[in-house]
Parts: sequence; C-alpha cells; structure tokens
Amino acid sequence: MSERTQKILEGMTLEEKIYQLEQITTSTYLPECNRIDIVTGPDSALKLDKELIFEVGTSLNLVGAETMIQAHDYYMEHSKQKMPPLFMQDVIHGHRTLYPINLGVAASFDRGLAKDLAAMAAKEASLDGVSVTFAPMVDLVRDPRWGRVMESSGEDPYLNGEMARATVEGYQGDMGKYNVAACVKHFAAYGAAEAGRDYNTVDMSERTLREYYLPAYKSAVDAGVKMVMTAFNIVDGVPCVGNKHLVKEILRDEWGFDGVVISDYGAFDEMVIHGASEDQKDSARLAMEAGCDIEMMTSCYARYLKELVAEGKISEEQIDRSVLRILDLKETLGVLDNSYRSVNVEESKRVQLCPEHRALARKAAEESAVLLKNDGILPFCKDVNRVAVIGPLGATGKIHGSWHCGGRAEETVSVLDGMKALLGDKVSYAPGCPIEYDAEDTSMIDEACRLAAESDCVVLCLGEHQDYSGEGNCMTYIDLPEVQYQLLDRVLAVNKNVAVALFTGRPLAISRLDHTAPAILNMWMPGTEGGSACANLLFGEAVPSGKITMTFPRTLGQCPIYYNHYTTGRPKLEEDDLKRVLYTSSYIDSPNSPLYPFGYGLSYTDFEYTDHQLSGTAMTAEGTLTASVKVKNTGKYRAKEAVQFYIRDVKGSCVRPVKELKGFEKIELAPGEEKTVTFTITEPMLRYWTQNLTHRSEKGTFQVFIGKDSTCKPFAEFELV
Ligand code: NOJ
Repeated sequence: MSERTQKILEGMTLEEKIYQLEQITTSTYLPECNRIDIVTGPDSALKLDKELIFEVGTSLNLVGAETMIQAHDYYMEHSKQKMPPLFMQDVIHGHRTLYPINLGVAASFDRGLAKDLAAMAAKEASLDGVSVTFAPMVDLVRDPRWGRVMESSGEDPYLNGEMARATVEGYQGDMGKYNVAACVKHFAAYGAAEAGRDYNTVDMSERTLREYYLPAYKSAVDAGVKMVMTAFNIVDGVPCVGNKHLVKEILRDEWGFDGVVISDYGAFDEMVIHGASEDQKDSARLAMEAGCDIEMMTSCYARYLKELVAEGKISEEQIDRSVLRILDLKETLGVLDNSYRSVNVEESKRVQLCPEHRALARKAAEESAVLLKNDGILPFCKDVNRVAVIGPLGATGKIHGSWHCGGRAEETVSVLDGMKALLGDKVSYAPGCPIEYDAEDTSMIDEACRLAAESDCVVLCLGEHQDYSGEGNCMTYIDLPEVQYQLLDRVLAVNKNVAVALFTGRPLAISRLDHTAPAILNMWMPGTEGGSACANLLFGEAVPSGKITMTFPRTLGQCPIYYNHYTTGRPKLEEDDLKRVLYTSSYIDSPNSPLYPFGYGLSYTDFEYTDHQLSGTAMTAEGTLTASVKVKNTGKYRAKEAVQFYIRDVKGSCVRPVKELKGFEKIELAPGEEKTVTFTITEPMLRYWTQNLTHRSEKGTFQVFIGKDSTCKPFAEFELV
C-alpha cells in the first residue's frame, strides 16, 4: 500500500469505502441508461443508494472507446469523491481482433505466442478504456461436455501453468499504457463441475485439488497477476466466494496474494441459493471473512456491511484492507493521475484490426490448428481447376469463437473468403446442411453433391455452432449431428478428395468421422483470421503443428478421460486395448484408449526422434540431470514440432500418474534439418502432494519419456537419492 492511497482512504467515509467494493455494469453510467435519480437495467435490482451510485469502485462490460468516454465523463461529473472507476471487461481470446479460443492457443504449445496474443488484446482493450480483463481462465478441464473448456488450456496442470504465466505477462507487461491488469479465474476448480454441467457441484480430495487444479492459479499469482476471481461452484461444500480455506488460507496466507479478489457475477446472492448463507447480509459477512474484496453485480456489501460493522461482526479495518487493495490497483494502473487512462478513440480505430494484428491472429490460427487425420490427401495442390467449399460453417464469420468481446462476425474471414483470397474464382460454395445440433434437413445435400462432383477437391466445413461452447453451453452429445455425417457420406460418394475442416469449441467424440473422412483439420474456433488460416493450411501455405491439450474420447462414455491418470491395481495392458479382458479396469464395448491422446497432432512432414539420452542414473536433491533427444525433419516441408517431455514417479507414498508433462519445446526445422532438444531435471519438478499433504519429492525410481505425444514410451530411468 502506498502513502497516497492510505491518505485517500483516510479521507473516505465508511459508505464511500463500502461502495468501492461494489461492481455494477458500465452501461449504468451511460446518460441514456441512467438519470441521477433512477438506476435502470440489470442494476435496478441491486437497490443501491442513489446518492452513492457514482462512488461505485469498478464496473464491467462495455466495449468501445466512445461509450467508455461517455460513461467515464458521466460518472466523474456526478461523483462527489471523483475517485476514477476501473472499467473491467472479459477480454478472453482477443478484443476486436479475435484469435483462436484458448483451448486452441494452448494447442500451439507456444508460450511466446500466447504472450504476444495477450499483449495484442491488451493493447486493443486498453485503447477502448478497459483497465482490467477477466482473464486468463486457467481452470483445468477433463470433461468436454462443459462448454467452458473453450476458455481453458486443457487437462494438464503444467501446461496450464505455463500458459497462465505467459498470458498474464502478455496482458500486464510492465503495466504501461497498452497493458491491462489480468484477473485469473475461476478460483478454484470450476472446471471440475460434475457431469460437465456448468455451475454444478465440485467435490474432490484436497490432494487432487492441490495436485491438479491449483497449480495454474498459483502460476498466475507467481507471475504477478493483479486480481483473482472466485468460482461459482462449491468446493468441499462451500461456495468459493465464501470459502475461507481457499481464499484466506490458500490464496492469501499460503501463496501471499495481496491483490484484489473479486466474486463472479451474482455469486454473493448465489450463496443463499446454494444454501450456504441465510441471506444477503450473511453472504456479505462470509465473503468478507473469506477475503473477497469486490462483489460483482450484487449489493450485499453495499447494503449490509455498515450494519455488520455496527454489530461488531466485521471490523472497519477489514474493509479498509479491501479498499486499499482496490485503490492500489487504481494507482498502479495510473487512473489516479489520469482517469481516462489509455482510452483513445482515434488510436483505437487505427490499432484495432490493423494488418499486424490480423497477421498475428492468422499466425495463431495456423499454429493452433491440429491435423487429426491425413490419409495423404493434404495438403491440397493449389494448381487445380475447381475447389468446393461445402458445409454449414463454410461461409460464415461465426467461427471466431463464442467469447468475442468487441469482435464481429462480419469482420471475420470465413473459410470461403479465405479460399477465394488464396485461389480466386475457382472456389464455389454450397451449405450442404444446417448447423443446429438438432437439424434434420437434408434437402441441401443434393446441391452440395453436384458441386462436389464437378470439383477437384472439397473442403467440408463441419462441426458445432460457436455458441454451443462457452458459459452455460454444455452438451450431453458431443459427436457431429447425423445430418453432417449424411452430408459427408454423400459427398464422399461423388468425390474422394475431401478434407474436413472441423470447427469446435471442445474435444468431440468423432470416431465415425475419423473412420470416414480422408483428412481432418481441427480449426477449433479460430478467430478473426480463421478462414485465411484454414486456406493456408489446407493448401500447404502453412504446415499444421498444433497438438491437442485435451483428450478427444472415442465416445462420451469414456469421459472423464485424460492422459495423466493413475494406474489401477488391474490395469488393462495397452497391447490388449482392442480386446476384451475380463476383470481388468476396462469397458466391454470400448477400448480404454482415446481417439486422439493428449499432445497428439500430425504434420505434413515427418519428424524422427532418435538418440534419446539421460545424463545419469542417479540424482541428488541438489543436483540435476539432463534428458535429450535428436529430432530430425525427414519430410519435405519446413515445419514446427512440439517436443514433449514426461516423467513418471514409479512409486510413492501416494500413487502417481502414469506420466506427467514436465517440459515442452516448440522447434522449427527445415527439411533434413536436425536439432537436439534438451530438458533439465531438477528436484522441485519431482515434488507432489504426498500422503501427509506436504509438497515434496520422495526418493526412488523415475522414468523419463520424450516424444511427439503422451503415448510415448519411457527410454530411461534414474534414482532420486
Ligand atoms: C460470469 C463468468 O463466469 C465470468 O467468467 C465472467 O468474467 C463474468 N461473468 C463477467 O462477465
């Protein structure tokens, strides 16, 4: 805390302090939405004090420099204190220039790219008046039914932590003019909602929580993230926003986080619905005791904190602490000196969607795409006469992803646009079928087949509507709708040269597609430049290098399915996977293995891994070992490869996963080129939450793996002595 903010605090009344802890929508401050005496819109239910509405500390969600300035001016004009508010916003996978959904960015296995993308989003957002983004979302996910897997970086705690760090660094930079403060979310374990149903119960052991779910939030905290958002869900029976164990004991006391903690939208009131608090007043007490500073879109603090202080249940010092955190953030962001901060109408127009930003978005879409299957038909040759783009996702900009912030479908390059830009008039389009999950209309298939029959190759754009993933969008069926398979089958009957461009916000259970389609390029929801990237990849102008960070199941019945599982007492041997073996941990009607494992993704070139080396067979806690491999590009294309490094702790006081990702490096090799990739093993890397819940390593044997994906085999062992 600075002297300056301490002084400001001293000049504030208790009411003014309490209103700093309030967050409402920015549109409240648009003159047309609000008159000084009336609060309308979603905020009207909050019953805030009309006198104090212009003393509210922060607000959320409004895009555009002009409207931000309007809101700012109206606020400052009516505020008595004239304490500048902070404008916050969900800038999730880009601001105006959208890049692929975060599950896609993770598939790039490229920390630098993730950082650059966050920095680009921060620049666009800050020019629009945003000071804080509610990102990164780093919830570990194992259930593809959950719509919010699109915002996550997947199922691995190490990779999630790396992406969390890179993203926080990208957003926050040195907290300059073009940076925004990041808010890591949703603390904690929101990604473990039972049955993949949003907002649902989360229940797990403390060990699982600490081992898998907490590390990525911790990485964000270690990277200096300014804010943390609590999750909607309960953990061990207590809603996160009022969960003292999580917020006070772990986040604040154990990790030393002294930044701002904010609730999720309406979560204070939801404590009552959960049955964890009696009423709004009780929610205010519980959240304050847990250590939550800001309530988002409720008025529990605003209406009841004063009473709680008078009754001696909450001390004014507790409130002061929270207010100071918010004032300190305002100071760090520079709004105490310049309440407009970086908002700039002209510059924002120039910067948003500028060629450099589009180029970066395209690069990200190219590097995020995952080639799931290729029978050898890809890349297509540009030197053809006719190309058919077919499918419900072929001519729409609605592939930019569901959390589009300021991005617009009409500014997004569709696959058809991208193909035309690359190949000109040779490209024609037919929709083929509708996109809705319950669509049954097959009447457009004939026309699509006519086009396919007279074309040299077909780009079949299948998948799910972008609004089928994201908050509140969970699915119990994650295969393609039957009508899309009918389209595929009939197109294939007239033209075998078909590559499926798959658009999805989650891993899909597409065994049938894998069985039928000659090639599948998973584009995720690729953002503003999705169509250009798709065209470049399919026609060899770019080479796929993405690798999935969330397992694709063969069937939903296998879920949750993830690579870093424990063995069992009766594991089914990998070589028996396709057989039925009684009394092993297995299914009668499905193999155990997934359709596509974690870390999997193909290229147009081939990479040969040889000469695996481990520098020794024993390591002390102070020592290190190195593991290395030679990777050679033996194919015809210059390409990138994500080299993955895993370790298995063979025996522990608690059972250990079959392998765990401990490092990765993305390299680029020209045809014939070879590179040695080296990973250093240190003792902290071997620590885990042991039987008595201490985080330490245990002596014994460790296996070492380096490979293309999570199915790679161990090549050496060492002893930690
Ligand atoms: C609810 C979502 O869970 C959260 O991620 C988001 O930041 C807030 N709404 C604000 O929009």
